[in-house]
Amino acid sequence: MKKPEKTQVLKIRGAKVDDYFVCLPLLTALYHGDIGSDFRRTFEDFVESEHGIVLVAENTKVLGVLVGGYHLDIDWEGKTAKIDALIVDEPYRKQGIGTELVRHFLAEAKKQGCKAAKSRVNTENFVAQEFHKTLGFTKAKTYEYFLDFVHPR
Ligand SMILES: CC(C)(COP(=O)(O)OP(=O)(O)OC[C@H]1O[C@@H](n2cnc3c(N)ncnc32)[C@H](O)[C@@H]1OP(=O)(O)O)[C@@H](O)C(=O)NCCC(=O)NCCS
Repeated sequence: MKKPEKTQVLKIRGAKVDDYFVCLPLLTALYHGDIGSDFRRTFEDFVESEHGIVLVAENTKVLGVLVGGYHLDIDWEGKTAKIDALIVDEPYRKQGIGTELVRHFLAEAKKQGCKAAKSRVNTENFVAQEFHKTLGFTKAKTYEYFLDFVHPR
């Protein structure tokens, strides 16, 4: 099969609220279609809040999206950054686009005075695990717990 043309001029930029509909197909794929009624508002909050960031990778169209945020973190005695969502359009994977998005995110996190960056990866997502390892992330020895207030058990 012919490989898709390698991205010519890849640009990473901060998303605007208007980018919602160009990002939506990628985010819908990431969440396997599980996009709720508050998703758009939350996307816009990430774009507009000083505690959030949405980066898009594009040439003539959007090829990848990263959604992240900055939080106070007592463990780190300061601010840390967290990648909340990351996806590269399937035909454009393995061309360094995910790496570029994360590099920009990490550079911005350092500028914001963050002491570390975190990312959550599904235990069965071996590609994402390899990706994070390649970028220098270390696997944490912690579990993630949550209590669902919206759909309590
Ligand atoms: C994870 C993801 C964002 C990586 O994006 P990408 O643009 O393809 O990644 P890069 O090209 O920058 O890859 C960087 C490194 O990650 C690793 N990697 C990426 N894809 C890989 C694959 N399919 N198998 C093994 N390692 C892989 C490699 O070490 C690669 O370095 P190399 O190209 O020198 O071998 C992309 O696969 C994706 O969108 N997956 C679906 C959504 C998802 O799982 N998101 C992660 C949520 S945390």
